[in-house]
Amino acid sequence: MARHITAITDLTTGEIDELITKARDIINHPDRYQDACRRKKLATLFYEPSTRTRLSFEAAMIELGGHVLGFSEAASSSAAKGESVADTVRTVCCYADIIAMRHPKEGAPTVASLHATVPVINAGDGGHNHPTQTLTDLLTIQMEKGRLGNMTVGLCGDLKFGRTVHSLITAMCRYPGVNFVLISPEELKVPSYVKIPLKKDSVPYTQTTSLTEVLPDLDILYMTRVQRERFFNEDDYIRLKDSYILTPEKMELAKKDLSVLHPLPRVNEISVAIDQDPRACYFRQALYGKFIRMALILKLLEVDA
Ligand code: ASP
Ligand code: CP
Repeated sequence: MARHITAITDLTTGEIDELITKARDIINHPDRYQDACRRKKLATLFYEPSTRTRLSFEAAMIELGGHVLGFSEAASSSAAKGESVADTVRTVCCYADIIAMRHPKEGAPTVASLHATVPVINAGDGGHNHPTQTLTDLLTIQMEKGRLGNMTVGLCGDLKFGRTVHSLITAMCRYPGVNFVLISPEELKVPSYVKIPLKKDSVPYTQTTSLTEVLPDLDILYMTRVQRERFFNEDDYIRLKDSYILTPEKMELAKKDLSVLHPLPRVNEISVAIDQDPRACYFRQALYGKFIRMALILKLLEVDA
């Protein structure tokens, strides 16, 4: 039976730690892994735009010695003729050993997994989950901070539709000593279903609309884009899109060892002037995304160096 990753909860904390360890070994010894997936094929089925997730999955498979096939928009696949996700996946399983799927509909990768004979990885489903971004975020935090617990994590921006935030909260509340600060406009607060694990495990969290008030307390600041494509009307998006803009002046309020993460793409919520600040981790984060996806592909295909 193929193992699927549709949510971060499909991995135990021990497995996440193993993936992080494996990714670090790949970073240090890339040559050892260059033939690990020889003759294996990854299919990337992307029904929604992507730069990092699709290309890092593809780079990951190529660096493991494997091959990639797939589509980068629904319009160039037979979805445009009305084919269902179930039928598409049944077909792709004839050609590929592992599938990464992004889809605008929440739950589509889960539907795919029910019809797949090869592992299916959720590469982002609507405003729901993005588990491999969370693995990327955890590797980044481990690399930057040397730990995953005992820290204050601020999540800022569109916490309602931001799927990376949902998966990251779910994962990080498993580590001891994590204190969350949820920073968003009233209309873009974290959905209540995402807060269930926080409440169940009595994980401390506060909610605020002010970034500047809480910035001095944070060890991690996870900025997010207001997710224009998830809004029902453009006026609401325009009203909310500039709610938070991180500038060099605001960074003066922050700790000297703050780490600023962002899943990217950035619109204008982080001033480009901050890119030179050593606390800006987001492009290193994009690089770590490739290594953690290499580790995940190895695990799901049950191969090693
Ligand atoms: N790239 C991330 C995602 O696909 C974040 C974003 O698009 O804002 O969820
Ligand atoms: N972080 C992320 O998912 O980026 P893309 O949307 O470019 O894949």
